[in-house]
Amino acid sequence: MDSGKTRKSTLSVWGGETGRFTNGAVTSPVVHSVAFAYDDLDEWHAVATGKSEGFIYSRNTNPTVQVLEEKTRVLESGEAATSFSTGMGAISNTLFALLGPGKRVVSIKDTYGGASKIFLEFLPAYNVKVHLCDTTDHEQIEAEIAKGCDLVYLETPTNPTLKVVDIKRLSTAAKKVGAVTVVDNTFASPINQNPLALGADLVIHSATKFLCGHSDAMGGLLCGKKELVEKVFRYREINGASLQAEPAYLIARGMKTLELRIERQNTSALRIAQYLKVHKKGKRCFLSRIGNTSGSQYCEKSDVRVWRCVKFCIGWRL
Ligand SMILES: Cc1ncc(COP(=O)(O)O)c(C=O)c1O
Repeated sequence: MDSGKTRKSTLSVWGGETGRFTNGAVTSPVVHSVAFAYDDLDEWHAVATGKSEGFIYSRNTNPTVQVLEEKTRVLESGEAATSFSTGMGAISNTLFALLGPGKRVVSIKDTYGGASKIFLEFLPAYNVKVHLCDTTDHEQIEAEIAKGCDLVYLETPTNPTLKVVDIKRLSTAAKKVGAVTVVDNTFASPINQNPLALGADLVIHSATKFLCGHSDAMGGLLCGKKELVEKVFRYREINGASLQAEPAYLIARGMKTLELRIERQNTSALRIAQYLKVHKKGKRCFLSRIGNTSGSQYCEKSDVRVWRCVKFCIGWRL
């Protein structure tokens, strides 16, 4: 199954699950096996060297995990996808696989705290130059990119400030200097925003959040250009931050209702913001407005209780 004209609600259910599973199972079995057996050494060798399809060892690839990767790939219309034990696993493996001593990365000040720590502490310790720009100052970000860099890292909307950046504009600037654009799409989800369609090379998800949707499993996903995804996969399979079958199954099961949940959240977030806008105790409310052409931000008055709403009401489609 590929993205094409198929609706996202259908892709959420059937993505990665169109084939026949063992014993005719209609949903993906949870394959706990760590190793996989073959009749003879030649068969094993063909799989191990990538000449035939199959599985060798679950730190590298696993049938249940592969279903989740494929589901995410079709929802983001990427060429390839791979997975990690957590969202931070996805972020750190991507950054460390694609950067190294002497490389330069441009990002924004409002990235998720864990990513921010990597930019401020871990990467500089490996002699990677990091420049963090004011998140909403697109001219400053473009100017920093134009000075030359290897990677542009964006998160939009940001957690928890819900600021929005223009992926199209900044990925165009990145392309001009030959830099790779990576976007953390966790808060938007593939239902509201597809960064690859806006010019990004790679998209990251903390599957722990909206993809899973039930707070009962952790995971991270990366999809986009095949060559780049493979480079990160090669790093992760040795680094070892691999996703296990059980959480992969739970996330894939949660994703079957992704479109329904996100559409409902969009409607609720807008209604809450409209209510708080006219509330007499109103202070500040941030409601992200996500569109495929512009990176706009929408701020409204509300009282402080909105932060609880904001945590799970991320925005609505233009
Ligand atoms: C936007 C964003 N990216 C990445 C992460 C890290 O994900 P995880 O907790 O699965 O490691 C989070 C966690 O809150 C997040 O909000």
